[in-house]
Amino acid sequence: MVSALTGPSIWDDTIIALARAGIDVPLGQLERDWTQPHAFSPEVEAGFLAVYRDTERYWELYQLAEKLVDLDDAMATWRHKHVITVERIIGGKRGTGGTAGVSYLTSTLTKRAFPELWSLRTQL
Ligand code: HEM
Repeated sequence: MVSALTGPSIWDDTIIALARAGIDVPLGQLERDWTQPHAFSPEVEAGFLAVYRDTERYWELYQLAEKLVDLDDAMATWRHKHVITVERIIGGKRGTGGTAGVSYLTSTLTKRAFPELWSLRTQL
């Protein structure tokens, strides 16, 4: 469990795979404090844009990226269903975890685990 929190995430490993495929990735994305969350990177977005623009050349990376988008897609669907259920059960009450409840959960609906894979689509 601790190693999962202190080591690279699946997104960090995917970015490392991008660099291994010969695509320019800033060093700060490849060697960093893995305990800190990933911050959106325009360079990572540009790297995956190159993958999506030449899927034949980067077929495996493209397939991997689409599987990650599947995960984000499913997570967004879960978040939506969860917040509707929460509203139905506790209405406007605060959560047991100390948040404002439904309004907090609504604010998480736009969260993405792999944000660059979503933003790059604007440029395809
Ligand atoms: C009627 C049932 C449920 C209610 C009323 C409820 C309510 C809440 C509330 C109010 C929060 C915000 C944190 C807080 O202040 O407590 C929360 C977060 C969360 N709940 Fe539920 N929940 C329910 C069922 C479930 C179930 C069945 C699961 C998992 C299978 C689940 C997983 C989570 C997770 C992962 C979060 C954290 C979300 C985040 O911060 O991004 N909840 N829930």
